[in-house]
Amino acid sequence: MLTFNDVSLDYGSFRALHGINLRADEGELVVLLGANGAGKSSIFRAASALTRASAGRIRLKDVDLVGKRPAEVVRAGVIHCPEGRKLFPALSVLKNLMLGAYPHRRDRAGNRTRLDDVFGLFPDLVKRKDDPAGALSGGQQQMVAIGRALMSRPRVLLLDEPSLGLAPLVVKQTFEVIQRINRAGTTVLLAEQNAHAALKIAHRAYVVESGRIVLEGDYDSLAGNEAVRRAYVGG
Ligand SMILES: Nc1ncnc2c1ncn2[C@@H]1O[C@H](COP(=O)(O)OP(=O)(O)O)[C@@H](O)[C@H]1O
Ligand SMILES: [Mg+2]
Repeated sequence: MLTFNDVSLDYGSFRALHGINLRADEGELVVLLGANGAGKSSIFRAASALTRASAGRIRLKDVDLVGKRPAEVVRAGVIHCPEGRKLFPALSVLKNLMLGAYPHRRDRAGNRTRLDDVFGLFPDLVKRKDDPAGALSGGQQQMVAIGRALMSRPRVLLLDEPSLGLAPLVVKQTFEVIQRINRAGTTVLLAEQNAHAALKIAHRAYVVESGRIVLEGDYDSLAGNEAVRRAYVGG
């Protein structure tokens, strides 16, 4: 579904990604593990064309993504749910969700169905839909961020550290929801420092270190691995 072939990415003279090779097959839930600064968000920025890859190919099925504009990548179905949620705190929950529907604004019936699906997935948001997003708890804000991404109709959903800053119980719920989204058919690429919980729901994972993929495997092959332990922050 989504493949990276030898992708490098530079910020000015700083090379953040060195020849990244990875793939997420249709229906897979693939995790990117790595410490702060490893390059996880840069991988997502390259995929969503927020920063243009300096070398290599990124493809969604047969469509080349390098050189496209971010809006074109969104329309192709690669949807980036950014680190730190990036909501509009003064806008209502509903308006934040509907911002995700912008690429499909002409399909009002389709958006209504999607919105029902999002509220079905996140029932807590129903009674908060008219509240400013900034008034919600961290966990609820993360739900809005994921819901907004779903409104964009992802074929591949890029989730950047959705568990960051959430209480353990909320982290567990967030991972359960991600697993449900994946089981309903969406291919998911999930960046996490929360290695243990992420590996439990992953089909496969890659470990990122200093802008390189250093390991690939499933739960059994990666849990307990020294490089995976290094990928934990403070743990
Ligand atoms: N806009 C930027 N300009 C310069 N350097 C950046 C920028 N964004 C990230 N970096 C650097 O690129 C490296 C990878 O960062 P990032 O992809 O954000 O890692 P992660 O998401 O794994 O924490 C880090 O060394 C970071 O400091
Ligand atoms: Mg990051």
